[in-house]
Amino acid sequence: MRQMPLLLRRNRVLSQIAPPGTDITVLYPAEEISHRVHALAGEIAAAMGRNPLVVPILKGSFIFAADLLRALHDAGVEPDMDFIGLSSYRAGTRSLGEVRLVRDTEVEIIGRDVLIVDDILESGRTLAFAKNLMAARGARTIRTCVLLHKPGKLAVDVVADFVGFDCPDRFVVGYGMDVAHAYRQLPFIGFVES
Ligand code: IMP
Ligand code: MG
Repeated sequence: MRQMPLLLRRNRVLSQIAPPGTDITVLYPAEEISHRVHALAGEIAAAMGRNPLVVPILKGSFIFAADLLRALHDAGVEPDMDFIGLSSYRAGTRSLGEVRLVRDTEVEIIGRDVLIVDDILESGRTLAFAKNLMAARGARTIRTCVLLHKPGKLAVDVVADFVGFDCPDRFVVGYGMDVAHAYRQLPFIGFVES
């Protein structure tokens, strides 16, 4: 029988037995995330109308954005979608403050009502960079949606219009979010015990 790579085997086990006492502590189980994502879609539909341009920030928001897009459909929205890729220089789990564009949009932004989607708002530098970029591209309106907000960590003046959860000051993984490229596949959000 073909051997699975060690990392995959380890993560499969973690994703099945992740409650406290193992390596990852669950903060938000899959059902709670799903419930909140649908509520967010309702808020966004009411505020943004039928045809926003949804712009998720890769990579961390890709699972959140995929679920949000389908929840927007359920809420009667017919969004267009394109992506930007942003990378912030990090030392381990700490941001060093500089944001770099690693993937740009392909669709026309001029005149669009843009919804920027990200996984976490922490220092705010990533979201501020994305907002400036969309403004420079000629967006008519810009709103922002983050799944998680870590209160008290802002280093720049930016607000998220739609927030999933206020999150404790831990380094979280799962539901698209990673530490050193691992754990994105977990269906829940948790933190790695140190
Ligand atoms: P900010 O630019 O400091 O607001 O950081 C936001 C970005 O850093 C997010 O887009 C995430 O990709 C990443 N990030 C911040 N905190 C975490 C975390 O706890 N887990 C995984 N990624 C994080
Ligand atoms: Mg990110």
